[in-house]
Amino acid sequence: MFPSDFAWGAATAAYQIEGGWQAGGKGPSIWDTFCHVKGRVFGDHNGDVGCNSYELWEKDLECIRQLGLTHYRLSLSWARLLPDGTTGHVNRKGVQYYNKVIDDLLACSVSPMVTLYHFDLPQALQDQGGWKSPKISAMFDSYAKFCFQTFGDRVKLWITINEPYVCAKLGHEDGIHAPGLKEPGMAAYLVGHNMLRAHAMAWHSYNSAYRAQQKGVVSLALNSDWFEPSRAGCREDVAAAERRLAFTLGWFAWPVFVTGDYPEIMRSAIDAQSKKLGYGGSSRLPSFSKDDPAILGTADFFALNYYTSRKVRPGGGAGQMSMKSDQDAEEVLDPSWPICGVSWLAVVPHGLRNLLKYIKNSFNNPAVYITENGFAQTGPLQIEDVQRSEFYKDAISQVAKAIEEDGVNVRGYFAWSLLDNFEWADGYSVRFGLFNVDFEDANRRRTIYQSGRDYAKIISKQKMKS
Ligand code: NOJ
Repeated sequence: MFPSDFAWGAATAAYQIEGGWQAGGKGPSIWDTFCHVKGRVFGDHNGDVGCNSYELWEKDLECIRQLGLTHYRLSLSWARLLPDGTTGHVNRKGVQYYNKVIDDLLACSVSPMVTLYHFDLPQALQDQGGWKSPKISAMFDSYAKFCFQTFGDRVKLWITINEPYVCAKLGHEDGIHAPGLKEPGMAAYLVGHNMLRAHAMAWHSYNSAYRAQQKGVVSLALNSDWFEPSRAGCREDVAAAERRLAFTLGWFAWPVFVTGDYPEIMRSAIDAQSKKLGYGGSSRLPSFSKDDPAILGTADFFALNYYTSRKVRPGGGAGQMSMKSDQDAEEVLDPSWPICGVSWLAVVPHGLRNLLKYIKNSFNNPAVYITENGFAQTGPLQIEDVQRSEFYKDAISQVAKAIEEDGVNVRGYFAWSLLDNFEWADGYSVRFGLFNVDFEDANRRRTIYQSGRDYAKIISKQKMKS
């Protein structure tokens, strides 16, 4: 049984849907820059126009209403609000755009959940060192305060940073996301560190200056797969699975929910690997100092993005300095887990329940919002997407079991995504929407998938029960 005030939502992110990359005074972001270099994104696609939600927001609202969502998760484009990243120049048209989105949602009784940062740093700040620079945390804090001040009278659910793991690793170690840096074994840890400090500063700002009046809650959205030992009961594999969880979820959740510092498993694995590779000097994983904001306790709920599960055993990334070799946990495909659309996405709904249980037990039974969960489609367009419908049914029944049988305090579920959109390095080749978007059509026609209809039915049934 879902609680009567359970949030039934869908999620999007600014760069993936808005388009209008230069419209109404917006400044460039690192994703604009990244996509405009040939060879970086599938088919050299980019988000210049996207779903054109900057101009077609009302169409999105129709989709939201058609699904009967109680909540909608969107992100703000920092560079649309503050074109050079600082509050020195506020772009009024950007403020107007988001004011309209928020006001329209509330007028339709849909609560906004707003993410401040979903991968799209203003290019002007990247030019000053971006997330590797220690200055970035205070800059993010100013931006966050500006948003709390401007929109917090109406927005009560805030996410500071979406998937710091992905920004840090894919953007600064693998180089497959903006800003496209390939600095294995060093930069990702530094970026993660600065993101944690940025998040904590923003949470403290909200807590001390806005919470009493605005009465909202603030967290950060953490992605994690569920990791299982490749050979059940094998000690080495169990330890490898624990390491992978520590490096993925623990990297951010441990400091915020448990100790204020990184998991010991992570630090000792990195130090051991550094020693093995003859890397001298201090740990590659930075330490928090007394000048840093307190990290512990800086989340009012747990925001989880879950997509898939992995079986792991020791190994991987041999001989090189990289997060992969630090983790010493390589993935083994389980042929009984079907792959959907993209290669990384094995469909394992029970992994969601396991991860929810793990979160309850490891992080002191927090309120949990599943801020993303979804199923990709590639190849020929299938509007009757039966498999995705089944996927959502299964995933939601796992959430129900986690609530009823495991006592996990799940407060909401957001499908990724409302619309087919720009799927980062995969461009438009991967479709996650509950609505199809015709990217050939000048008006970016939206058409509901079967899975959208079925999700709407689930929601309306649940609303009737409560
Ligand atoms: C998580 C990210 O937050 C989102 O931007 C992305 O599109 C989905 N995963 C699917 O890969």
